[in-house]
Amino acid sequence: MEKTKIILDCDPGHDDAVAIMLAAREPSLELLGVSVVAGNQTLENTQRNARNVLQWLGANIPVYAGCDRPMVRDKVIAADIHGSTGLDGPVFPPLTKKLEPEHAVQFLIRSLLESEGDITVVTTGPMTNLAMAMRLEPRITEKIRRIVLMGGSFTNGNVTPAAEFNIIADAEAASVCFRSGRPITMVGLDVTRKALCYPEIVERMGRIGNRASNLFVALMGHFCKTQKQVFGWEGGPLHDPVTIAYLIDPEVLVTKPMNVQIDIRSTQSYGRTNCDYYGYQKLPPTADVAVDIDVARFWDIVETGLRRYSEA
Ligand code: BDR
Ligand code: CA
Repeated sequence: MEKTKIILDCDPGHDDAVAIMLAAREPSLELLGVSVVAGNQTLENTQRNARNVLQWLGANIPVYAGCDRPMVRDKVIAADIHGSTGLDGPVFPPLTKKLEPEHAVQFLIRSLLESEGDITVVTTGPMTNLAMAMRLEPRITEKIRRIVLMGGSFTNGNVTPAAEFNIIADAEAASVCFRSGRPITMVGLDVTRKALCYPEIVERMGRIGNRASNLFVALMGHFCKTQKQVFGWEGGPLHDPVTIAYLIDPEVLVTKPMNVQIDIRSTQSYGRTNCDYYGYQKLPPTADVAVDIDVARFWDIVETGLRRYSEA
């Protein structure tokens, strides 16, 4: 089976951590590296979290630290959801896994330039690293096979009525990526808010009883509690892993091509992903936008992914 090569650019983050879990052991994917950005927490925290997760999983995947702030605006973090470390909940053993010396932006540039145009870049945090890479070395743009991102919404946001966290955290970067002309799959809140991790899901995954499922349970303990406090959800929406689930099994999502533009000008709707759902504007589509999710299939993919850590 030919593997899909991916780079996972993330800001762990509880749901990012589950995305890493699914990607690191998936036989149909080749995870070339985890690049990290400031987002849910400071870069110092997010890069450490990525290393802690990979060390816990015993996954020998390199971690690269990238940008510590957005391209233009001031940094925002999501400590209300992810806690003061960005990954509150699990207690990790002493960290021995090293950070790669190369900057994440340089890693993206080098990997893409040296590639045969077969790398999919998955972003589950603010899109700063990828946008900076395209600005620094424009020749990489045509080398990107596809961008699959968790971010945005064609309905409501989760930071403002208009904007979702990953986009509003660096809307200028998102705008650079959406205007790149490369194929984009946007996995937004419209579908990820249906992937609610109810207590029975946590129990189901906990029954697997391996190191990945133990970490999943520890992560969800904190994440589901804060999601309830902040949004009133009975189960936390597991946003980021939906990107990886889609790469594993595209049938998990229904997508629709749309013209998508990022609002970087207005005050009230800054960071909105303006999706021309009905094609009123007669503009060419710029992204395949996820419009529905097969929730049962998604949880099956997550379970299969966690079970892989029981294999030798
Ligand atoms: C996104 O924001 C972050 O808090 C999550 O990790 C996810 O990537 C959801 O809006
Ligand atoms: Ca994230």
